[in-house]
Formats: sequence, C-alpha cells, structure tokens
Amino acid sequence: MNHAIRIHEHGGPEKMRWEEVPLPAPKPGEALVRHHAVGLNYIDVYFRTGLYKLPALPAVLGMEGAGVVEAIGEGVTEVAVGDRVAYATGPVGAYAEARTLKADRLVPVPENIPLELAAAMMLQGMTAQYLLRTTYRVKPGETILIHAAAGGVGLIMVQWAKHLGCTVIGTVSTPEKAELARAHGADHVVLAGEDLPAAVKKITGGAMLPVVYDSVGKDTFLASLDCLRPLGMMVSFGNASGPVPPLDIGILAAKGSLYLTRPTLASYTTKREDLLAVAKDLFDVVGSGAVKINVNQRYALKDAAQAHRDLEARKTTGSTILLP
Ligand SMILES: NC(=O)c1ccc[n+]([C@@H]2O[C@H](COP(=O)([O-])OP(=O)(O)OC[C@H]3O[C@@H](n4cnc5c(N)ncnc54)[C@H](OP(=O)(O)O)[C@@H]3O)[C@@H](O)[C@H]2O)c1
Repeated sequence: MNHAIRIHEHGGPEKMRWEEVPLPAPKPGEALVRHHAVGLNYIDVYFRTGLYKLPALPAVLGMEGAGVVEAIGEGVTEVAVGDRVAYATGPVGAYAEARTLKADRLVPVPENIPLELAAAMMLQGMTAQYLLRTTYRVKPGETILIHAAAGGVGLIMVQWAKHLGCTVIGTVSTPEKAELARAHGADHVVLAGEDLPAAVKKITGGAMLPVVYDSVGKDTFLASLDCLRPLGMMVSFGNASGPVPPLDIGILAAKGSLYLTRPTLASYTTKREDLLAVAKDLFDVVGSGAVKINVNQRYALKDAAQAHRDLEARKTTGSTILLP
C-alpha cells in the first residue's frame, strides 16, 4: 500500500486528502524512491491553490523528497538500488510514502548529510545557491537585501551571503523572526511595515543596493525597486504575498536603468551536470558548517494540511519536513 496527500481540486488546505495511490514500477529511465522525509516549500501552496498549473488532477503535491532507491527501470545509470538520494526539481508528487520519477533528477546524498536534512534543504538550498552564485553573483563587501530572512530560503541565504563576505539586510514580520535572522548573521533587519527604502538609504549612507532578492512579491515589489542603486538587479523569485501585477517596464528606466529577472530553480538545473554542480556546492557549505539547516518544524506527512496552514499564516521559520 502506498499513501499520499492528493488534491482533486484547487483550494485551501482542506482540499488535501490522505489517500491510497498507485505505485507504478519504474519504466525505462525511472527509479522508485521510498521517502524518509519530504520537504515543505511555498511552491506547494501555489500548486494547491492553482496559482501554478498542475499537469492534471487529481495530483499528489510536493516537489522535494529524500530516501532510498528501491528499484530502477531499464537503462538507469545515475543511481543504483540502495542509494541514498534526494531531489527537488519536480515533477510534483513528493507528498507520498514512495514514488517513481526520472532517475536523472535524483542526486546522491553524501554520507555526512542525514536524509531528513537532505529533504529539508535541497529546494531551498539549491535556490539560495543559484541566486547568490549565478543570477547575481555577490561579491565580498557588497550590501544586499534578502526578504523573508527568517524563512526557509531566507535563513539559508543569509548565512551563505555572510559566508561570501556580504553585509546582509533582511526583512521579517516579527521581532522574534528579527532575532532569528540576526542570530544567523543578518547585519540589519527591517520589519515589515517600516519604510524599507528609507531604512536602506540610512544603512548604506545613500548608496543603495546592487541587488535585492524578493520572494514576497506583490506587497514588496515596488519598495524593493526603490532600494536599488542605478543599474541594480531586482531578483523577483517568489509570490508569498501574491503575484506581482503586470507592470510598465518604463519604471525600470525611471528608477535608474534597473535589471529585472524572474528566475526559477528549474531553469538553472535543467542539465544534469548543472543540477549536480548546484547540489555539490550546497552539500559543501552545509558539510563545512558554513550554512546550518534549521529544521524548525516537523509534521506527519498525513498532517500536511496543518503544515500548509502554518506556512501560510507565517508561523514557520527555517525549513519544515513531512514524515511518512
Ligand atoms: N524561484 C525559485 O526558484 C524559488 C525556489 C524556492 C522558493 N522560492 C520562493 O521563495 C519564497 C520562500 O520560500 P520558502 O519555501 O522558503 O518559504 P518561507 O520563506 O519559509 O515562507 C514564506 C515567508 O514569506 C513571508 N511572507 C511575506 N508576506 C507573506 C504573506 N502575505 N503570506 C505568507 N507569507 C508571507 C513570511 O515571512 P515573514 O513573516 O517574516 O514576512 C513567510 O514566513 C517563496 O515565495 C517561494 O515561492 C522561489
């Protein structure tokens, strides 16, 4: 028997059902993975609500998991039965006790990384990696802004940016989260509701920022643009508060010939060699202790709806795992 959290229609967490689902044997190129843990990510909310399109309904939610390979299909060379593996680049279907998926999306997990930690860090950590190392490659001495700094991606990015020699400004919604972000290296924390561009102006002595990493979306987009210096880079990589409405690109000219990108992890890891390189960089910073993964919430997989409620109510900090 294989159980999973499935939705039959889009909507709130109440649409998530713990059900028996088929577990197909791996076809050529596929592997069957028995999950030790599943990662909770904000993208799971977007797929549940319908903001992001699912290929079909009913659908098992979830992008990220870690476990052990139990069977492989014909022609699979990337992994073998018994390997410890993790993945985070889809397709959806991770909220399950076990699943089959393309073997070339699986990353072998090093011995020093427990599988529960792997499930907590692959999606958020590989995102931190490509944002800081490729989308805008931060340099030592630069001051940068990271929104939702006490969240899953946020706490990893704050630590990684500090490790790379940046001065980090973070935004959070509560004094407790501000404390947590500071404890992980944030040099300055601005609370939601404060005048963000004014705070950045004061911190930088008027120089403003070369880059802003904005995962909040609708509520922060315009204020984020106002934190950039001319020719600065706006990285809009999420929509926790709702999607950014359509905009007149003339605003980028008016605010100083700004660059704007809307990146996704999938585009940065399409080739297997890129996926493995991004994952290796992540395993290295976690293995060396430069970045600590905070698994601050654990839920039984069958209680994933409660995990969604807490994530959307901004009650979680750091990373969250779901246990089959
Ligand atoms: N493009 C990509 O490749 C990619 C990959 C991974 C994640 N992401 C994005 O990165 C963001 C963070 O993901 P995560 O999984 O690590 O989640 P998370 O940061 O742990 O949780 C979301 C956080 O967003 C903040 N937030 C601000 N306004 C909110 C609102 N109206 N409702 C709910 N939360 C709000 C909250 O922090 P405060 O209470 O402190 O404001 C909340 O804790 C998400 O937007 C996600 O979609 C993008």
